[in-house]
Amino acid sequence: MAGINDGAFCRNLSVAGFDMVTLGGYNADFPTIQAGHQILSRGRPEFVVEEENLLSYLEDQVKLIKEPGWEGIVSINLRAITPDPLIEISKIGGVDVVEINAHCRQKEITDLGCGQTMLRDPVLLEEFTRDVTKNSKSRVSVKIRANVPGADEVEVAKVIEQSGADYIHIDAMKPGFNSADYQIISSVKENTSIFLIGNNSIKDVTSGLKMLAAGADGISIARAAMGGSLNFDLSLI
Ligand SMILES: Cc1cc2nc3c(=O)[nH]c(=O)nc-3n(C[C@H](O)[C@H](O)[C@H](O)COP(=O)(O)O)c2cc1C
Repeated sequence: MAGINDGAFCRNLSVAGFDMVTLGGYNADFPTIQAGHQILSRGRPEFVVEEENLLSYLEDQVKLIKEPGWEGIVSINLRAITPDPLIEISKIGGVDVVEINAHCRQKEITDLGCGQTMLRDPVLLEEFTRDVTKNSKSRVSVKIRANVPGADEVEVAKVIEQSGADYIHIDAMKPGFNSADYQIISSVKENTSIFLIGNNSIKDVTSGLKMLAAGADGISIARAAMGGSLNFDLSLI
């Protein structure tokens, strides 16, 4: 969650039983950082770290999480108009996964062709993802949002798998509902073999188990962890 998931926040939650934590989203190049300033100025939470400070800042955030006693995976969710900044960030010590943000719906980001706009252009998404997977030192995840008009989740998932990504992370948002679109999770699972992280509206053991039953290989939790802790036992999922 932009403006929330920094190193201290992730470190705090790692002890709740998560085996992967995600830093960010962070804006990783000049155009997206400028967009971040605009988003922040209209009052939405956002991390704004200037380009020249980003690598050392992220290095410090990762160190905060990777303290002795926790063997989990650290991922960084990133927005950029080209693959290069993600490739550079993948080389930071302790970064296990770089996550391409093809999910953000903030206008300042989508106007740049980033975030969920990438879902409407599978050819571009494939080229972008392939470049990151070929040249990164870390594993690669792609975060997508479901039910974006003009995007086909199964086609997008196939492209992500063909590009060599290690994970697809799906926010199975169902507009107008307070629960996930489990059908989309099942459809993607039936049509691909990539490790699928299912996300949206997991707020208790029941909703977590439902996501796994729909076909997700793992789950992720955002808003239910926003306060810095969980009010249910992750080990029961
Ligand atoms: C304040 C806020 C900021 C978010 N920022 C990001 C982001 O930067 N990158 C991203 O991939 N998802 C972001 N999300 C989306 C969440 O990671 C998650 O996909 C979404 O909230 C649905 O999951 P949930 O029902 O567990 O909250 C954000 C969500 C919130 C509430």
